[in-house]
Amino acid sequence: MEKGQLLYEGKAKRLYSTAEENILFVEYKDSATAFNGEKKEEIAGKGILNNKITTLIFDKLKSAGIESHFVEQISENEQLVKKVDIIPIELVVRNIAAGSLAKRLGYEEGTPLRRPIVEFYYKNDDLGDPLITTEHIEILNIATPEEVQALYDNGLKVNEVLRPLFQEIGVTLVDFKLEFGRDASGQVLLADEVSPDTCRLWDIETNQKLDKDVFRRDLGNLTDVYKIILARLGGLSK
Ligand code: C5P
Repeated sequence: MEKGQLLYEGKAKRLYSTAEENILFVEYKDSATAFNGEKKEEIAGKGILNNKITTLIFDKLKSAGIESHFVEQISENEQLVKKVDIIPIELVVRNIAAGSLAKRLGYEEGTPLRRPIVEFYYKNDDLGDPLITTEHIEILNIATPEEVQALYDNGLKVNEVLRPLFQEIGVTLVDFKLEFGRDASGQVLLADEVSPDTCRLWDIETNQKLDKDVFRRDLGNLTDVYKIILARLGGLSK
C-alpha cells in the first residue's frame, strides 16, 4: 500500500494516510526522547528495532486473543495499522517498583509489588503527563467509565500474556505503558507500540537494563540492548 499524506509526526513515529480510509501507514523514526522531550538524540537503527519488536509483540498478543490496531509489517521500519482516535490516557502496568513509582512511594528500585498495579496518566505534553485518578478522567471527560474499565482490564490481560512470554526468554517485565484508541465503530483497541521504548525489561540473571532507561540514564548503547530483546524474541533474522 502506498504512503499518502503526512498526518501527524510524534516523537518516535510518523503517521501517513493510505488509499484506505481506515488504515494508516506508520513509520518508526530513529529519534530517542526522554523527560518529555528534554533529552533527544538520533540513534541509527532504533526505528527498525522498535518496528520489528512491536510487530512480534502485537502478533503474540493477537494469538492470545488481544486485538490491537496492528495490521501488518510492510518494511523494516514501517507498518500498517487501523486508524483510531487515541484516548489521551497512558495506562501503566507495574510488577516491580521502578522509575516514577519507586520515587513516589519511596521504594527501592527492584522491589517486587504484591500484585500488578495499574496507573492512569493524562497524555498531555504541556502538563508533563500527570498521574490522574478515575475521577479526574470523569471530569476531563476523556473516557467513559466503561472505557476506563476496559483499559484497566486490558492492561492486566496484556501483563498476563507478556510477563510469562518475557520470562521464557530470560527477561523480567518490570512495567510498561499502553495506549488505546477508538476505531471507526467506537471499539476500544490497543494502539501505539509495545517495545523497549515503552517497557522496562531487565535480564533475569543479571538485572541488566534492556530498555529505554539505557538512554534515559546514559547506561550504554541503546541499539545493542534492543537487539538482545529482538534476538531473544526470535526476530533477528526477519
Ligand atoms: O517513568 P515511569 O516509571 O512512570 O514509567 C513507567 C513505564 O511506562 C516505563 O516502562 C516507561 O518506559 C513507560 N512510559 C512510556 N511513556 C511515557 C511514560 C512512561 O512509555 N510517557
